[in-house]
Amino acid sequence: MAARHFLTLLDLSPSELRQLIDRAIELKAMQKRGDIHEPLKNRVLAMIFEKSSTRTRVSFEAGMSQLGGSSIFLSPRDTQLGRGEPIEDSARVLSQMVDAVMIRTFEHDKVELFAEYATVPVINALTDDYHPCQLLADMQAYHEVRGSIQGKTVTWVGDGNNMCHSYINAARQWDFTLNIACPEGFEPNADLVQANADRVNVLRDPKAAVENSHLVVTDVWASMGQEDEAAERMNKFADYQISPALMDLAHPDALFMHCLPAHRGEEVSHDMLDDPRSVVWEEAGNRLHAQKALLEFLLAH
Ligand code: CP
Ligand code: NVA
Repeated sequence: MAARHFLTLLDLSPSELRQLIDRAIELKAMQKRGDIHEPLKNRVLAMIFEKSSTRTRVSFEAGMSQLGGSSIFLSPRDTQLGRGEPIEDSARVLSQMVDAVMIRTFEHDKVELFAEYATVPVINALTDDYHPCQLLADMQAYHEVRGSIQGKTVTWVGDGNNMCHSYINAARQWDFTLNIACPEGFEPNADLVQANADRVNVLRDPKAAVENSHLVVTDVWASMGQEDEAAERMNKFADYQISPALMDLAHPDALFMHCLPAHRGEEVSHDMLDDPRSVVWEEAGNRLHAQKALLEFLLAH
């Protein structure tokens, strides 16, 4: 049977995603109780990181250990990947040695090519276009705090980046409406918006966009790889900061999320992460539980 991959949220069906979130909640409770649960004994995850990471690396590494397996951290600085060994070759070689491969890189094509040649599950741990693992944690956090997100309104404020694209996919898979408030020239991919035009609205004004929203989300204004544009982006995004005052315009039950790391004073005001509506710490912690559920799911197939 061909390996299942997780390159975007569309690789799992809506019902598989729902089951995965339920399982993540269960695994979190098991961990809190101190249960030992080691279904991945002797299994190995290779983790290729071509960009920096704190949460993703630690959650995958800790997750594999807790499930009874282990992981290997690979960076382009000290592997042949960084010296130009073709992706196809690396995929075929690693597939014979490990049970799954997690990749954080720039071009989304790279993870697609890797998956095409791999015979083990491949997980996208962030590309320039998508960050599906983060959405598992976000959806888990919303479900834990407020219940089902189906039929609710979510507003994305800021850059139409990888996280925004994964929110568009999430809107489709979890059946919610997504407002996106972004400055001109920073819209998400037009084809992706077009394909989800029935539930995605691209707007300019963050104040109008958050009205009646049950969840407000943002991310950094300059993503990894865009460091040179940071100063220019600061000006263009100046009106897109999330603050408690902006949250006051949303639904009274609205939550706030950010994938982190955050830049206080830029995309979030200094007090936003500590506001009672912010669930960013639960969201970050859920990376562990949601990815453990994902690893169980992919490695059991
Ligand atoms: N949110 C997230 O992916 O964080 P890291 O870059 O620290 O992995
Ligand atoms: N959009 C950010 C997310 C970091 C987790 C980036 O790509 O740098």
